[in-house]
Amino acid sequence: MTQPEPGTQLSRTDLTLDLLHQAQNSDALAGQVIVVTGAGDGIGKAAALDFASAGAQVVLIGRTQEKLEAVYDQIEATTQTEPIILPLDLNELTTESAQELAHGIEQTYGRLDGLVLNASLLGDKMSIAQYPPKVWSSVMNVNLNSAFHMTQALLPLLEAGPNGRIIFTTSSVGREGRAYWGAYAVSKFATEGLMQTLADELQNTSRVRVHCINPGGTRTGMRAKAYPGEDPQTVPSPEVHMPLYRYLLSPNSQPFNGISWDARDFLTQ
Ligand SMILES: NC(=O)c1ccc[n+]([C@@H]2O[C@H](COP(=O)([O-])OP(=O)(O)OC[C@H]3O[C@@H](n4cnc5c(N)ncnc54)[C@H](OP(=O)(O)O)[C@@H]3O)[C@@H](O)[C@H]2O)c1
Repeated sequence: MTQPEPGTQLSRTDLTLDLLHQAQNSDALAGQVIVVTGAGDGIGKAAALDFASAGAQVVLIGRTQEKLEAVYDQIEATTQTEPIILPLDLNELTTESAQELAHGIEQTYGRLDGLVLNASLLGDKMSIAQYPPKVWSSVMNVNLNSAFHMTQALLPLLEAGPNGRIIFTTSSVGREGRAYWGAYAVSKFATEGLMQTLADELQNTSRVRVHCINPGGTRTGMRAKAYPGEDPQTVPSPEVHMPLYRYLLSPNSQPFNGISWDARDFLTQ
């Protein structure tokens, strides 16, 4: 498989169905250690449950302890793996607290195989002219700055494993500007930039591979807030995106780096 240019958007035709099916094996992520942010709800919750069911030790990060505990209980009850809960407000994450997090993971596991940077805030749907500066800062902190701090702190642990992966989470409004999407859209443009810059730096110096996934419209609390008039049943559930996440976290995806994937091109149900 040849390596496409960083920033390329690939579709189903570029990836054989075989590879996606392989990723659905019940031991596809056996023994991997994977951090998921925003693991208490929506796509992050589906990802944490899915990775654990494929054999991964999952580190659950999110801001609402009760939601994380519910995911923890479900993983304990249905898999052989032992998750860890780390309640963290990513709006407050600093270089120091990210380093503490990395230290804790190193002490427990000695390495990291996957970092899925999924947590985000939607912020306000409002014009730039009227956008509240405080909301702007929170959205930038959670969606972008925390991803930078976590990446910087956890990269050495990803380098310590055989096939480290970082999956950033983007959005269609992070590729082409759209009115009233404010800080959310701008944070996603920047996320694409962070991913591409890092991918280029790692391409010839590391086995760590980095990607963006754009889930596209998906049935979650954030989607309902962004489109209050929409019937949720008309958009896919988070679970249907999981084969693509699994594939990108597996050694099979090693030839790919720096790509922005549209999850809707890979729906399996
Ligand atoms: N759903 C879609 O249609 C769609 C489309 C394109 C892109 N995306 C992207 O997909 C990702 C997941 O979105 P989603 O739809 O699953 O959203 P969601 O249901 O709102 O879940 C977001 C998660 O992020 C967590 N989070 C928010 N602020 C946080 C903070 N300050 N500290 C720690 N955790 C925080 C939330 O925690 P709490 O539950 O505790 O608040 C929640 O678990 C996001 O990056 C989003 O931009 C989604």
